[in-house]
Parts: sequence; C-alpha cells; structure tokens
Amino acid sequence: MNLIDTGLTAWRRRYWRGSTEALQRFSGLKPFTVITGASEGIGRAFAIECARRGDNLILIARGVERLEAVANELRAQGRGAVVSVPFDVTTMDAAQTIAVTVGAQGGFVNLLINNAGFGLGGAFQEHSVEKIEAMVQLNVATPTRLMRAFLPDMLARGAGGIINVSSLGGYGPGPWQGAYYASKAYVTSLSEAVAYETRGQGVRILAVAPGPVETAFHAKMGSDWAFYRWMIPSVSAESVARSGLRAYRFGRRVVLPGLLSPLLMATMRVTPHVIGLPFLGALLHVGKGTVRRKGSSEGDA
Ligand SMILES: NC(=O)c1ccc[n+]([C@@H]2O[C@H](COP(=O)([O-])OP(=O)(O)OC[C@H]3O[C@@H](n4cnc5c(N)ncnc54)[C@H](OP(=O)(O)O)[C@@H]3O)[C@@H](O)[C@H]2O)c1
Repeated sequence: MNLIDTGLTAWRRRYWRGSTEALQRFSGLKPFTVITGASEGIGRAFAIECARRGDNLILIARGVERLEAVANELRAQGRGAVVSVPFDVTTMDAAQTIAVTVGAQGGFVNLLINNAGFGLGGAFQEHSVEKIEAMVQLNVATPTRLMRAFLPDMLARGAGGIINVSSLGGYGPGPWQGAYYASKAYVTSLSEAVAYETRGQGVRILAVAPGPVETAFHAKMGSDWAFYRWMIPSVSAESVARSGLRAYRFGRRVVLPGLLSPLLMATMRVTPHVIGLPFLGALLHVGKGTVRRKGSSEGDA
C-alpha cells in the first residue's frame, strides 16, 4: 500500500470505531472479490482487472462453460484464488450461497461487484410481466439484497466495499428502454445514498454508470439496430472496469467512464423532459419488425 492509499484509508475511516471483537472474527481470513455476471462483457473485464492486481475471486454467472473458461484463463495467471460458482444470482438465498462459498475458502467478502444485469428493448407493454419482473429481480432486487447482506461485515471491519454497475440510462427516463432505465435510476440512487450514509466508516460504495459499452448486451435486448448504437460511440468493457476500479480506489461515489458519458449526463440533467424525451426516444426506438429480425425482444435470460 503506498502513501496515497494509506492517506485515503485514514480519511475514509475518520468516523470508524471498530471493536477488537469484530476484527478478530476476520483475522487470518482471506479477502475475496465477488463478481456477478463474470462470464462475459463488463463482469469478465472486472474479473481480469481484479485478477491482474492479485485479488482472490468468486465469479458468478449461470452458464457453466463460459464462466469456467474465464475462471481457467485467470487461474492460468496463477495469482489469487479463482472460484467459479455457476448459479442464478436472483435466487433468494444468493447471499447465503456466496457466504458459504467464501467461508469454505477461508475468506470473507472484501469487494462485491454487483454487475449482472440485462435490458429490455422495445415498448413496455410488449414485454411479458414475467420478463419485466425478472429484470427488476436481477437489476434492482438482487444488488439490494447482496448489499444489505455484506455491508454490515464491511462496516465492522471498517474496510472493503461495493461496486454497483449502473448506467448512464439511470439519469433520465428512456422511452423504449423504460423499465431498464428506471431500474438503473434505482441502482445509482441507492448507491449514492448508502455511500453518503456510511461515509467516514471505512467502506467504499460506488456506482459505475457507463454509456454504451461494446458487449453482447444490446443484441440480447433486441436494440442492436436502434439509432443510439450508431450515433453514440461505445467504450470497451475493459476501459469501464479500469475506470471503475480507479474510482473505487479513490473512494468516489459515482463514475461515468469515458469522455462522452459525463457530457451526456450533464445534458440529460439540464434538458427539460419536453425536449429530452422525444430526442432520447428517437435514439432508443426499436421498431417491432427490427426486434423480431434480431430474434428476441426479451433481453437476456
Ligand atoms: N453494455 C452496455 O452498453 C452497458 C451500459 C451500461 C450499463 N451496463 C450494465 O453493465 C452490466 C453488465 O452488462 P454487460 O454489457 O456486460 O452484459 P452481458 O455482456 O450481457 O453480460 C451479462 C452477464 O451477466 C450474467 N447474468 C445474467 N443473468 C444472470 C443471473 N440471473 N445470474 C447470474 N448471472 C447472470 C451473464 O451470464 P449468464 O447469462 O451465463 O448468466 C453475463 O455473464 C449490466 O448490469 C448492464 O445493465 C451495460
């Protein structure tokens, strides 16, 4: 740990009064970074960056093969431990599954990266209630549950933290991605609020809010032919992960990776909805035929 990190840790812990009993519970245990949605896209990029700096990793996604391929790639680097846990993170006992897995490794959750998520492109009423609820479960309920489960131990230690992968879309209503934008507004709002509530107690809570990122996400949600895909340049998943981890190190509450996203966010904030909504609607619009041509209007599942 260099001088900057020592200074930042001291500042971050300015109100923290840890008990020796609480600290003893974690002595001799290994810190783990838990990443949901680690088998591809932004989650995979976070896993690679965290492995590079030597973190012990718990990688989560549903698809066994892709997840195991990422885990094997990182194991070959031979730094920290890499454990892949293929399961659906929306299950009610997800926090317990993670806690048991980390416990079996003789560790504790030091950094939780709530990344798994999917979007729904197209008109709100065209998606089934079940699909919308599945998205709310993954994008909203799951990060909330995992934060609530692991934050108390972080506060007891006066260390560690949570990165919630949100979106630039969380800064305003997004016609034709309405439920998705709303889900990300929740994530950014909760992250910033809890980051403020826990300030000075040693933990870091960060919302990473990228604009379009070059992953399979857009094709899965049936939006690959929407205007924004052509008009707004995408950033790489790797740059999002690097930017997120840098912002986390410095204890920021929100980061918008790339040069364009902060500008777009500022524009979204100052533009009256009467002007912004039609503009954003035109960017996000997905015609019915387009969605069918891409094979799905139902995002990832
Ligand atoms: N791509 C963008 O332009 C963009 C922009 C802003 C924000 N984001 C946000 O960034 C996050 C990651 O997006 P991405 O672009 O990397 O998406 P992605 O490439 O589609 O990857 C999604 C990951 O989540 C996993 N996943 C999906 N459902 C899951 C579940 N129920 N349980 C466990 N794992 C699950 C997927 O694996 P399995 O399918 O095998 O489970 C996959 O590893 C999302 O929260 C998204 O909203 C993306």
